[in-house]
Amino acid sequence: MQSIIDDLNWRYAVKKFDTKRTLNPKDVDVLAETMRLTATSYGLMPFRLIIVDDHETKNQLRDASWGQSQLSDASHVFVLCSIVQPSRAEVDNYMQLISKEREIPRENLNAFADNLMKKLENSPNLSDWSARQAYIALGALLTVCASRRIDACPIEGFDPQQYDQILNLAERGLHAVLAIPVGYRAKDDKYQFVKKVRLAKEDFVISKS
Ligand SMILES: Cc1cc2nc3c(=O)[nH]c(=O)nc-3n(C[C@H](O)[C@H](O)[C@H](O)COP(=O)(O)O)c2cc1C
Repeated sequence: MQSIIDDLNWRYAVKKFDTKRTLNPKDVDVLAETMRLTATSYGLMPFRLIIVDDHETKNQLRDASWGQSQLSDASHVFVLCSIVQPSRAEVDNYMQLISKEREIPRENLNAFADNLMKKLENSPNLSDWSARQAYIALGALLTVCASRRIDACPIEGFDPQQYDQILNLAERGLHAVLAIPVGYRAKDDKYQFVKKVRLAKEDFVISKS
């Protein structure tokens, strides 16, 4: 059986995708579920996922990403968007959801709701906090992609304001944080043949003092 370490060594940040290959809808769904099921602080999920698979929008995203071809050539582009100002409304919706799913009275959740509201009110940069949650989903996505031999490239190199415009994010209280083109590597993407560069284990796992 293939080990997870083999999967992680197989993975690399793809620079050139095979334009002829597309993901099947089942795989797209598994990858979306991977991100939906990720851990988040308090479970609030202060980010959303947009899945782009049409050529026109993918080309627009490429133009807003310094021309990086992964955006136009990959089968699908996942865009993770943070909720800029998670507020009382998000907390109330979340409490309703817990109450419904776990069949507990809403008022039993008052202490948790207050605690969460305090956390939001006292966070100096809520937008950053939301964005950090999206990176947890990115980590999970890359690992699951590798385990299914699906290729991806995390992309931070884009103009978030342009993304916000292209995807109508601002009016929904959202802001683009990460783009992740997914698909299959081109046979001649030279980056698949270069050696991975990582710190030695002993330089990475260091002693506590
Ligand atoms: C948050 C994040 C943002 C990244 N942004 C870009 C990017 O804009 N363009 C790109 O080609 N690679 C991008 N990368 C890929 C990294 O350069 C790559 O993961 C790193 O060099 C290690 O190589 P490997 O993933 O192939 O092992 C990004 C990676 C991460 C985690």
